[in-house]
This record gives sequence, structure tokens and C-alpha cells, in this order.
Amino acid sequence: MRLRDSVALITGASSGIGAATAAALAAAGTRVLLAGRDPARLADIARRSGGVALPADLATAEGPARLAEAAVRAAAGPPGGIDILVNNAGLGWSGPVSEITAEKVSELVTVNLTAAMELTRLLVPGMIQRGRGRLVFVSSIAGVTGVRGEAVYAATKAGLVTFAESLAYELAEHAVGVSVIIPGVIDTPFFDRRGKPYSRTRPAPVPPERAAQAIVAALAHDRDVAYVPRWLRVPAWLHGAAPATFRALAARFGDPG
Ligand SMILES: NC(=O)c1ccc[n+]([C@@H]2O[C@H](COP(=O)([O-])OP(=O)(O)OC[C@H]3O[C@@H](n4cnc5c(N)ncnc54)[C@H](OP(=O)(O)O)[C@@H]3O)[C@@H](O)[C@H]2O)c1
Repeated sequence: MRLRDSVALITGASSGIGAATAAALAAAGTRVLLAGRDPARLADIARRSGGVALPADLATAEGPARLAEAAVRAAAGPPGGIDILVNNAGLGWSGPVSEITAEKVSELVTVNLTAAMELTRLLVPGMIQRGRGRLVFVSSIAGVTGVRGEAVYAATKAGLVTFAESLAYELAEHAVGVSVIIPGVIDTPFFDRRGKPYSRTRPAPVPPERAAQAIVAALAHDRDVAYVPRWLRVPAWLHGAAPATFRALAARFGDPG
């Protein structure tokens, strides 16, 4: 896909992977529309990337529709329309499932999964009409293999993977592509914000710019899937090919992400 002069809506652009993706796409000549909650951080990233800040709370019922409307308005003018949707906004939670509140379950499912499906539903018709577009879903290794203590989070991320995989079939004939990004441990405020900082030394966290590069490369080269870092495809493969062996190794050495 040609990135120069394309228009991209990036959710979760006020921090971490989304902010790094905004900078990387802007450097590639893409016009970036930046969604997030924190208006001050969003305005700062918009100023540095030359993008447009679109504050939105995706945990609310009307959040995705309002954001889609604001984004379509901001993208108006020739050639018009949103070419790229990066569904990246998300939050984690760590602990036994008996301890998570109903409100937190709802927030995780709404922000991580429902909002991404809603934004896709609202913005895909424009892409189909123009015969051009790509959807990016930022999932997680947790959504591929499962991770101890992150059952609800992992389920939302697995939902993104199967949504994206299924969508790819129906969108192929319309020249609209779908990419899934599978990060492991990325050095962002994600862990502190979920209430449990990342305390292991291995796997070592990688900078958010690595995830942003993977997103830009997936867009530029029409890639269906990208692992960050790349070696994560090995545990993902093992989990699919030999689940019992994977579980035994995960129990012994700890989960990979
Ligand atoms: N960091 C990792 O190791 C890792 C690993 C695998 C997958 N991921 C995934 O990568 C994505 C980005 O995470 P990150 O690491 O960059 O974390 P981050 O720095 O905490 O960024 C999360 C982003 O999501 C936004 N967000 C959260 N709740 C929102 C809501 N209710 N409405 C709108 N936006 C909301 C935040 O907006 P505000 O800051 O404005 O509130 C922020 O921009 C997430 O989907 C995460 O699950 C991260």
C-alpha cells in the first residue's frame, strides 16, 4: 500500500505503540488522525506528527460512532476517506479471574474488542467503496497462546485475531487488506497502567518504535501478520502444533509474554 498521502486513523495514539506508530506513519508521508483519551498528550503528539487530535473514550457506548464520524469529517477533501485504520487502543488487567470486577471485564471487552469491531464496521464501507484500504489489529501473544493471570485480556486479544482472520476472507475481493500485529513485551506504560508492572528480565521489553516499524512494514508490504519481536512466532507455532508440549514448557519456564 502506498503510505504517502494516505489517511490513517490510529486509536490509542496518545501513548506507547500508538504514539510511535503516529510518528512513523507521519514520517512516511501519511496524514494521521489520532484518537485517545488524554487531550494534552494527544495534542502534543498531533503537534509533533502534524496530525489531527480526535479525543474519544472508546469505553462508552457512543464512543466509536462519534470517533468514526469525527474521523470521516477530518479526512474529507480529495481524495477523501480513511485508507488505514489502526485498531490499537487497549488496556490490560492481571490477576485471578475470581478477583476481576464485572466493570473491569466490561471495560476490557469494550475497549479492546467491541470498539475495534465497531470502528471497522463503520469505516470499512468507505474503503470498499473506494476499492482501497487496510485494517490493522494490534493483538498480543496473550491472544495467541493464552497467558496465566490474564484470562480476560487474552480472550479480548484472541477475539481480535479471529475477527481479523474472518474479515480477511470477505474483504479480499474488495482490495481491502487486514493485518494482525502480535506484540510480546513492549516498553510502554501498559504494565504500570494495568496495576502490575512488568517485573521479569526475560523476555526483555522492546521499544514501542519496533512495534511501530512492524505496523508500517505490514501496511507498506501488505503483510497479514507480524510478530514483535519476530522470534515470538516460534512459541506461537509450538502452541498450535504441540499444545501439550507448549503448556508443559510454559508451566516450567513461565509464559512468554
Ligand atoms: N505493551 C505491551 O507489552 C503490549 C503487548 C501486547 C499487546 N499490547 C497492546 O498494544 C496496544 C497499545 O498498548 P501500549 O502498550 O501502547 O499501552 P499504553 O501506552 O497504555 O497505551 C494504551 C492506549 O490505549 C488508549 N486507551 C485506553 N483506554 C481507552 C479508552 N477507554 N478510550 C480510548 N482510548 C483508550 C490509551 O489512551 P489514553 O492514554 O489517552 O488514556 C492509550 O493511548 C494495546 O491494545 C495493548 O493491549 C501491548
